Amino acid sequence: MKEKSHYKKPLTISVVGKGGSGKTVITTLLAKCISKNYDFKMLLIDADPTYPHLSSMVSLIPKKSLEKLRTDVIEKVLTNAKSFEEVAENIDFEVYNAITESKDFSLFSIGQPEGPGCFCPSNTLLRKVISSISKDFDIVLIDCEAGLEQINRMVIETVDILIIVSDISIRSVETAATISKSAKIFTKYKKFGVILNRVKGDIDYIIEKLEDLKLPLLAKIPEDDIVTEYELKGKPIIEIPENSRSFLAVNKIIEDLFEFQ
Ligand SMILES: Nc1ncnc2c1ncn2[C@@H]1O[C@H](COP(=O)(O)OP(=O)(O)OP(=O)(O)O)[C@@H](O)[C@H]1O
Ligand SMILES: [Mg+2]
Repeated sequence: MKEKSHYKKPLTISVVGKGGSGKTVITTLLAKCISKNYDFKMLLIDADPTYPHLSSMVSLIPKKSLEKLRTDVIEKVLTNAKSFEEVAENIDFEVYNAITESKDFSLFSIGQPEGPGCFCPSNTLLRKVISSISKDFDIVLIDCEAGLEQINRMVIETVDILIIVSDISIRSVETAATISKSAKIFTKYKKFGVILNRVKGDIDYIIEKLEDLKLPLLAKIPEDDIVTEYELKGKPIIEIPENSRSFLAVNKIIEDLFEFQ
C-alpha cells in the first residue's frame, strides 16, 4: 500500500449507474475497504435525493441534510429573522455543522425535498458544497442518484474516478454507455470504468458487450448471499464480514483503482 502523501488530495470518487444496479452497496463496500486499508480522512456524500439509503447502509445518521439546511436558510431570509448577508456569511459554518462523523468516516447527505418540486436547487447547491467541503478531506466518495441528472448538471464535474455500476443485464450496460458519453462531456474524470455487480453464471455476452461499447471493466462483484441476508434483517451493509465474497472482490481492486496518478 502506498503512503498517503502519494495521492492527490482530495481524491473524489463518484458512483453512478442505473437505478437499482447496486450503487449504494458498492459505495458502502468501497468505504469499508478504504477505511480498512488506508489512513485517509474520508467524506461520504449521499447525493441521492430520491432513495437516500447510504446512511442506513453505513450506519450513520446525518445531523441535518442539505435540503433542510437550504429550506431553513430560505425561511430565515423570508421571515427577516436574518439578513441575506448574515445568512450568506454563515452558510459554510452551517454546512460543516451538518457533517456527521464516525471513527472511520464522515457523512453529508443531500436529503429529500419536503414538499413537491424538482431537485435542481439542491443539486446546484450540492455542486458548490462539494467543492467547498472536499478540500478538508483526503478522499470524497459520492453515492449519486440514478441516471444522468447529476452528471449533466455538472454536480460531479470535478470527479477524479468515475465508477459506473451495472448489473448483468444488457439494459444496465447500455445505460452505462449513455452515462459514459455524458461524463466525457460534463466531467473532468481522470479514470472511469464499470463495476459489474451481482455477477453470477455465464456473463461472456455481457463482457463482449462492454468491449463493443469500449467500457473498461474495473471489477466483477459477485451476487452475495451475505448482502441479501443483511438486507433481509435490515442490518447495515458496512458490518458484513471481511471474508464475504462482495467485500473480497472490492478489496482486490482498491489499489488498482487509485493507480492513475
Ligand atoms: N453484490 C450484491 N449481492 C447481493 N445483493 C446485492 C448486491 N449488490 C446489491 N444488491 C442488492 O440490490 C438491491 C439494490 O442495491 P442498491 O440499493 O445498492 O442499488 P442502487 O443502485 O443504489 O439503487 P437506487 O438507484 O435505488 O439508489 C439491494 O436490495 C441490494 O441489497
Ligand atoms: Mg442507492
